[in-house]
Amino acid sequence: MSETDVELEARLAEQDAFDPPESFIQQANVTDPEIYQQFEDNWPRCFEQAADLLSWTDDYDQVLDDSNPPFYEWFVGGELNASANCLDRHLEGRGDEPAIEWIGEPTDEDNRTYTYSELHREVNEFAAGLRALGVEEDDVVTLYLPMIPELPIAMLACARIGAPHSVVFAGFSADALGTRLEAADSEYLVTCDGYYRRGDPLDHFSKASDGLANVSHSVDTVIVERLAKEDQIPHNWTEQTHSYATLLEKHRGATVEPIGRDAEDMLFLMYTSGTTGQPKGVKHTTGGYLSWAAWTSHAVLDVKPEDTYFCAADIGWITGHSYIVYGPLALGTTTMMYEGTPDYPDRNRLWELIETYEATQLYTAPTAIRSFMKWGTEYIESHDLSSLRLLGTVGEPINPRAWKWYYKHIGEESCPVVDTWWQTETGGMMLTTLPAIGEMKPGTAGPPLPGVSADVVDVRGSPVAAGEAGYLVANKPWPGMLRTLYQNDDRFINEYWREYSNTDSDDSADWVYFPEDGAKIDGDGYITVLGRVDDVLNVSGHRLGTMEIESAIVGVEGVAEAAVVGGDHEIKGEAVYAYVITEDGYKENEDLRERIVAGVEDAIGPIARPEAVVFTPELPKTRSGKIMRRLLENIANNDELGDTSTLRNPDVVSEIQQKAQSN
Ligand code: PRX
Repeated sequence: MSETDVELEARLAEQDAFDPPESFIQQANVTDPEIYQQFEDNWPRCFEQAADLLSWTDDYDQVLDDSNPPFYEWFVGGELNASANCLDRHLEGRGDEPAIEWIGEPTDEDNRTYTYSELHREVNEFAAGLRALGVEEDDVVTLYLPMIPELPIAMLACARIGAPHSVVFAGFSADALGTRLEAADSEYLVTCDGYYRRGDPLDHFSKASDGLANVSHSVDTVIVERLAKEDQIPHNWTEQTHSYATLLEKHRGATVEPIGRDAEDMLFLMYTSGTTGQPKGVKHTTGGYLSWAAWTSHAVLDVKPEDTYFCAADIGWITGHSYIVYGPLALGTTTMMYEGTPDYPDRNRLWELIETYEATQLYTAPTAIRSFMKWGTEYIESHDLSSLRLLGTVGEPINPRAWKWYYKHIGEESCPVVDTWWQTETGGMMLTTLPAIGEMKPGTAGPPLPGVSADVVDVRGSPVAAGEAGYLVANKPWPGMLRTLYQNDDRFINEYWREYSNTDSDDSADWVYFPEDGAKIDGDGYITVLGRVDDVLNVSGHRLGTMEIESAIVGVEGVAEAAVVGGDHEIKGEAVYAYVITEDGYKENEDLRERIVAGVEDAIGPIARPEAVVFTPELPKTRSGKIMRRLLENIANNDELGDTSTLRNPDVVSEIQQKAQSN
């Protein structure tokens, strides 16, 4: 490091607030600081600004119907189609401009550009193909696809014919796919033969078929030939398996009129982890969700049609839904999509992509930023990243050091960094600074977006003082909010509303949304989200329920009981620590440990792989029999143990500690 670099590092380390760069403000989509007040004064009509970014086939009569909380309805009476909003309306003027720049993982020119016209054509053909298979409006179509163009194509084809999609992350296991197909009663699956990971073709279809084997109803399956080599394509075709290529061929040149969907009609389902073993089917709608995805892309990510915008998430998670597909395409921009990992074939890959495509925004997760930091700046310095105008982070708290590193080394101190807090359930961003307005404070997401009402409260629901920790809540509804959990209104109320609402009231002022995150707020109203307060872990920005992992572990032969907690991890943020009691007659040995790890991978996927499996004779329990997870977390982190006096079995703690250390 040169002397000036050292000085710069020292200055950055001390600085705890940053102003948006002047060059950015000059050209930003949203620049008027009055927007916060205007939205407040004009609530909920302020959200018309979001709805105005879309094209409606029927105007809505009412912005918000809050007469039956928490079942809010947005843009009531409006009609639109998400696929038409993302494609058809851009054809005139932007038809020949790239909609998707797709980069395959292999480096031998395995890239594809889809202009808006080309994307429109293929979406129409696939929509016609889906119809021919029998897919009707409101049928849930499951998409188990990796980061290949056919995933957004299938999403938009579903949206076109009014069939909600349920995307299952390709890294999830066969069992996870089966559970989601079953829960959504989904009779259609789009998957692929395989894809590339670190240079090797990966068999995806076997996972899909194993998943299908456990589904109680029959499922028509369309297979995308990603690997496209005869010998790699699965052979077990039945009457219910169809080739994507053949289906397109049959419907070459077809046009499918986009179906008019009510604003409140379901656009998609997304399963996410909760506190029970059963994932939650989060329901998002056509009008509210799409307008929120579009508005936040416009206001926070500063997306403009002429941009080449790069979100390095996976479409299998909500970030990719809202900010690779729906938000950017609704705004008619060019969205980049990369199949592989940032370090394949080497650590230059992302920077090469940014340089080659002249990416204007980069939106990624803190876990990735922490890896980049660890790799060092040499990979970055050999690339011209000056096309970047804005940086964003999402998915987990970002520590100030990582924020500043991102700001300095990737953004070259000339890009604002937006730290965006939101969830699968919120549909889009909720807390963040607007990039041209107000200071950025590393480590804290920022104030609620205009029109969003959030606070940090204590257990009784009273606001906490500045600097104190409490629970994050949203006091008012917003257009992108989930409408319910699929076919489970009771769980919807219990999980998100019961804690802080008067559930007997039909006055929406008595209803408060609880996202199950801990937070603190500073004197300027900036909110720092501290992490989950329920039994959900955040591993590399991926959300995993401890119960899901525990039930996978107790399903392994020889395991009597298990408790899973999150331990701190330098790169992943949190890592899975499993404490396991064996059944009588089973040895605590390497074989069992391996079977436990394999059991978790089979039930969920490699992302849930335990960092450590600690065998223990007992779990620390309160007198009422509740596992004291906090103690297990302390042990995982090698922290001082808190109070153990309320335990039924205090002696077990030091034993577990010893076992964990010798692990
Ligand atoms: O705990 C919060 C954390 O991620 C959770 C939501 O996870 P998921 O539904 O998978 O959506 C991730 C992408 C939006 C939240 O409850 N989280 C998300 N963003 C942040 C965050 N924690 C702190 N800061 C953030 N910016």
